[in-house]
Amino acid sequence: MFVNPDLDNDLCERPQYGFIISLTKTMVGKVALVTGSTSGVGVNVATELAARGARVIITGRNAAKLEETRNRIVNVTGNGNVVGKQVDFESLSSIRSFVHEMYIQEPKLNILINNVGAIGLEDRRTEDNLHVMMQINYLGNFLLSFLLFPLLKASAPSRIISVSSISLLLGHIDFEHMNDVGRFSSFGHYANSKLADVLFTVEMNKRIGGSDVSVFSLDPGLIKTDFLRNYKETPFRRFMSWGLFLVGQPTNRVATAYVWLASDPKVVNSSGKHFLYCKEFYSSWFAEDAQLTRRLWEESKRLVKIKDEEDWERNSL
Ligand SMILES: NC(=O)c1ccc[n+]([C@@H]2O[C@H](COP(=O)([O-])OP(=O)(O)OC[C@H]3O[C@@H](n4cnc5c(N)ncnc54)[C@H](OP(=O)(O)O)[C@@H]3O)[C@@H](O)[C@H]2O)c1
Repeated sequence: MFVNPDLDNDLCERPQYGFIISLTKTMVGKVALVTGSTSGVGVNVATELAARGARVIITGRNAAKLEETRNRIVNVTGNGNVVGKQVDFESLSSIRSFVHEMYIQEPKLNILINNVGAIGLEDRRTEDNLHVMMQINYLGNFLLSFLLFPLLKASAPSRIISVSSISLLLGHIDFEHMNDVGRFSSFGHYANSKLADVLFTVEMNKRIGGSDVSVFSLDPGLIKTDFLRNYKETPFRRFMSWGLFLVGQPTNRVATAYVWLASDPKVVNSSGKHFLYCKEFYSSWFAEDAQLTRRLWEESKRLVKIKDEEDWERNSL
């Protein structure tokens, strides 16, 4: 096991392929929420944040998996301040119930990491009449971030990190058809949703100026996870999965970028920006269309049915 005895301020400067848990408790007193943290890189991110002393809330769909992951994080880090919450991003009411619980049970929240993601799901709409890929990969993140913003603001300084992907370069926002069945491939919906994650980050940054809540989007690069598992079992899928394992980065290495964005004081000045791993990246050219980001924000509010009493923009926090 490799233990990093140094402070975290140069986390991204030194590539680390071992276990990166720090000995320094740089996040004591902070509360972090990591979605999609029962498998893949989310587990490592939650572990790293717990190791730094934060109270960590992990989310997943499966109660047994949540309990098992929570116990593992507690055992590895020695931090008992880890809680598991069941949330299904296919259901907006599940997200709303979770947020309701958060406001009752958590007096503060400093870090929200929108890490949940899926690809290869069947082409269908959810109970909310949204495309399942769009809802899990983007609209759920939008709703969660929107609803938790007042708590993040009250707990500031705070940060929101939304996980995107290089696939966004192939995405586009088609307002008329973004939730259509039979129009895009699973990858197409994924690319559109990951582009939307970046665009909403840009727009949110404009709307929350002065709040001391910083927002970032992150392309973690390719990661060695079982992310393609929802695709039908075909030779092509097996080939792609092997490819991911061959060229992808290990999850503990990728978690470094998440922790860095969640904690490094220097990045606060880059709120609204898109990062590829630990470097500010290409947001300038594809996220500059202010009309597009504004329209996406308004349309997202409509699609997730933001109620008057939830609308902090209207109620001017
Ligand atoms: N792997 C890559 O190469 C890669 C590349 C670029 C970006 N990313 C992004 O990185 C993030 C993490 O991906 P990963 O590779 O770590 O994948 P992963 O192992 O599949 O983890 C995804 C997480 O999202 C959860 N999830 C999926 N559908 C959900 C739903 N309907 N409701 C609640 N939770 C749900 C999964 O829960 P379960 O455990 O219940 O399935 C899991 O915890 C994703 O946003 C992904 O798009 C990945």
